[in-house]
Amino acid sequence: MSEYMLQTESVIKTYRQYDSVITAVNRVSIKVEKGEFIAIIGTSGSGKSTFLHICAGLDKANAGHVIIDGTDITKLGPDALGRFRGEKMGFIYQRHNLIPQFTALENILLPTVMCNKPDMSYQESLRKLVESLNLTERLHHLPSELSGGQAQRVAIARALINNPQILFADEPTGNLDRANADEVLELLFRLRADLGQTLVMVTHDLAIADQADRIFRMENGSLTLERDYIKGNKKTIDTY
Ligand SMILES: Nc1ncnc2c1ncn2[C@@H]1O[C@H](COP(=O)(O)OP(=O)(O)OP(=O)(O)O)[C@@H](O)[C@H]1O
Ligand SMILES: [Mg+2]
Repeated sequence: MSEYMLQTESVIKTYRQYDSVITAVNRVSIKVEKGEFIAIIGTSGSGKSTFLHICAGLDKANAGHVIIDGTDITKLGPDALGRFRGEKMGFIYQRHNLIPQFTALENILLPTVMCNKPDMSYQESLRKLVESLNLTERLHHLPSELSGGQAQRVAIARALINNPQILFADEPTGNLDRANADEVLELLFRLRADLGQTLVMVTHDLAIADQADRIFRMENGSLTLERDYIKGNKKTIDTY
């Protein structure tokens, strides 16, 4: 147990492309408290998705540490990491990333296969998610048979099925029109209000970012505090 839900220490990620090296994430250190909502903004290609993937253990950093609730996930082997992710974390991808051959229901239940919780423990959250995300009619459809908003709601249900303590969301409404985006976000915030998960969200939508406790800006792989609604609007903390 730790007072922070997420801590990163000098995370670096580089990509080699032909004869050049891109530093997608450049020594990023951040501390996120339990229950906090952090928004990450920044231009396209600035490293937001790469950083989020590393925080959630979906991608490996070249250097640095990612500590989730006191556990350094950069030190876990693939099996332990898979279980840890299944139990602690939910991830909503920039493109919903549903498995095309699986029905909506099978996609939603996918994370339950990965973790040690008893088979029946997710039944209650499944019922609640399907109901509140209005997916009852679509459960046996394939992703190709769903609208963009429905697919994204399935992706949210998949991310929340295990009641994760920390939820990562990468532009969760980026592909939706305003009305659908507002609806999906309202559902997401309402579901979060129950459990008070820590939320780390990448968004280009400043109206959404404004609802966060703190806003960070990613620029050329570096993360800086843009606004702190708890401590006032000055850049006061977390400058490493
Ligand atoms: N698999 C990869 N191989 C090589 N370069 C990559 C790879 N993934 C990302 N990059 C590069 O790393 C940088 C950061 O990419 P990333 O996807 O993290 O940006 P982003 O801030 O999420 O952008 P967007 O807002 O468009 O989603 C970019 O220059 C991108 O081209
Ligand atoms: Mg991205």
